[in-house]
Amino acid sequence: MKAISSLIPQLPELRKQTNQPAVRPAVTDAQRQEIRELLADAGFDAVNQGVYDTLITYGSREVAHANTKGLFLTGPAGIGKTLGVSILAAKFGWPVLPVADVVSAFLEVSEADFQNFISAMDFWGVPRMIVLDDLGVEPVPVNRFGTAFNVLADVLDVRYRLFLRYGVRTIVTTNLGDAELVKRYGFRMDDRLNQMFDFAAVTGESRRK
Ligand SMILES: Nc1ncnc2c1ncn2[C@@H]1O[C@H](COP(=O)(O)OP(=O)(O)O)[C@@H](O)[C@H]1O
Ligand SMILES: [Mg+2]
Repeated sequence: MKAISSLIPQLPELRKQTNQPAVRPAVTDAQRQEIRELLADAGFDAVNQGVYDTLITYGSREVAHANTKGLFLTGPAGIGKTLGVSILAAKFGWPVLPVADVVSAFLEVSEADFQNFISAMDFWGVPRMIVLDDLGVEPVPVNRFGTAFNVLADVLDVRYRLFLRYGVRTIVTTNLGDAELVKRYGFRMDDRLNQMFDFAAVTGESRRK
């Protein structure tokens, strides 16, 4: 399989330092409380409060902090990963990209536009945090002009390089376990995932009706 990174050799360059937005200030106790209430209003119980509190903390360190990783949320289907992340994402302005939409974009837009899409560059040309929702449900391989791609493996690779270069982080939700991740994205990627993500297990019974 050909890698998207070979198709897109250039990662975006950051604009001049002076143009960069300020690092987001730390989340205040009042903001934290407000988000907890939003979650409670949506019917979330306290079981996963630790996970979502961690996620709230991520809202305060979106850009280029040393030694802060992205967050990889794992857990069975129907327990509110997508809902919970979306509530926070709306609050903090993180784009939530269902992986199926990422694959559609890959098939439908130019390489340059796809690169911008997965870099989620802001007004200043600075790549941003994104949420990749439901990693593992996308088809593999995907054929584009007769070439086979593992689209999300390549997207994770690009996000890894953004992480190394700019400290830009990614949030992932998935039902996949370790073995399935290795099988789908390979050993090398598994190593990189450990480097670029903290892992958190969301628990509970399916709430899907
Ligand atoms: N903890 C929860 N409290 C209330 N509703 C929930 C909870 N978890 C999930 N739901 C509901 O169940 C459905 C599935 O949730 P979703 O976020 O898609 O789960 P996941 O992403 O973990 O598969 C949604 O309709 C959501 O509104
Ligand atoms: Mg989901």
